[in-house]
Amino acid sequence: MEYDFRKKNIMGKNVVLIGTQWGDEGKGKIVDLLTRNVSGVVRFQGGHNAGHTLVVEGKKRVLHLIPSGILHEAVTCMIGNGVVLSLPDLFSEISEIQDSGVSISGRLFVSPNCALILPYHVELDKARERKLGKQKIGTTGRGIGPAYEDKISRRALLVRDLFDEPSFLERLELNLDYHNFVLEKYLECPPVSYGAAVDSTLPYRDKLEPMIKDIGRELSERRNRGESAIFEGAQGALLDIDHGTYPFVTSSNTNVGAISSGCGIGPRSLDYFLGITKAYTTRVGEGPFPTELFDAEGKHLAVAGNEFGSTTGRPRRCGWLDAHALKEVAQLNSLSGLCITKLDVLDGLEKILVCVDYKKSLNGNTEPVYDELPGWEGSVSGAKSMDDLPAEARNYLERIENLCGIKIDIVSTGPDRENTIILHNVFS
Ligand code: GDP
Ligand code: IMO
Ligand code: MG
Repeated sequence: MEYDFRKKNIMGKNVVLIGTQWGDEGKGKIVDLLTRNVSGVVRFQGGHNAGHTLVVEGKKRVLHLIPSGILHEAVTCMIGNGVVLSLPDLFSEISEIQDSGVSISGRLFVSPNCALILPYHVELDKARERKLGKQKIGTTGRGIGPAYEDKISRRALLVRDLFDEPSFLERLELNLDYHNFVLEKYLECPPVSYGAAVDSTLPYRDKLEPMIKDIGRELSERRNRGESAIFEGAQGALLDIDHGTYPFVTSSNTNVGAISSGCGIGPRSLDYFLGITKAYTTRVGEGPFPTELFDAEGKHLAVAGNEFGSTTGRPRRCGWLDAHALKEVAQLNSLSGLCITKLDVLDGLEKILVCVDYKKSLNGNTEPVYDELPGWEGSVSGAKSMDDLPAEARNYLERIENLCGIKIDIVSTGPDRENTIILHNVFS
């Protein structure tokens, strides 16, 4: 039975979901699943570099900017000021969702303080990666880094700036001059035209206007009315600009510290922190990955887990679960509980390794220290109860809990909303 969030005597609860690895942990699926408990879902950082996959009754959808609660028609979805926003991409995603029969009208809101992503950000992102050659970051090429740079340098154009057209155009021209100088003279590529920059902003203003809302105030009012909300992280803890594997990170803070500034609410209004963790590890793009596998087992994870990026389609690098890193991430984020996803992908493995520590080898490289656990026979695919799991699978989950000192609330056993074991209600 569905929980009735409108009941006045039920205290609202703000539940945070963040990825604890390098992204693609299955956040979208779990946000969609848990949205039945809330009246609102909000994004607080990142942009359309995210790709969150939802599978409901066999139908797959990938969301990049729109919060993953959108399929629940009574629920409001919000984009907080910490998100960098590409208007053409937002509206093409809205059209796609609407074409699939989901109404968005009156239930998607955007902060007036979101910084806009413009075409020169995208060109800068791609041209810099080309120039870096072998040292490239492996970005998604969506202009995320350059857009956040403009925000920090106080040069960004915000959503609210669209409504003072003369000043908007004047600043757009100045920014364009500045970025075209770098594009042409330093990065040796063609400049972005004024027309292209204008076309990606002003034509969307009228459609955007009814969606603009003070998201911080909205969240506070909802909480005061006793309504619950989900705070949907994008990327993962190890891609955090401060606490991740710098410089191979994204350009925002992905850890829970970003929530308050990214949507305008106080930290004490957050009640529960759920870390979404894949039963193994993947990474897309460059950068260190201590437990990466280059052998048949790595291939097995890639194939069984269908590990291709939801945004760029790039193959994801695969490896064992890094419980050593997870323990630190749990501490950094005050995690209340874990959700382990893609357990079914480990079906059929003879043994499962889990990294419990790092040691320095003689040449100075970081090498993982592993515990070896037995795999299981048969399949956990689609399991809905712990009783459906072989003893070895339960043993693996218990080992993760013990290594991190955090309890597991949810286990995901397949891509569909229903392929889930709920052990504790994170809203209770
Ligand atoms: P996100 O970015 O964290 O939302 O994750 P992505 O959507 O980028 O990648 C997760 C992928 O795994 C998607 O294709 C999901 O449909 C799929 N997925 C999620 N949970 C499970 C699971 O428990 N088992 C399997 N086999 N696939 C899952
Ligand atoms: P979701 O929300 C996985 C990675 C890129 C690259 C680095 C920097 O689906 O988990 P950027 O374009 O952000 O400047 O790229 O971050 N990256 C992601 N990897 N999942 C994501 O999002 C990612 N968003 C960015 O591959 O290594
Ligand atoms: Mg993803």
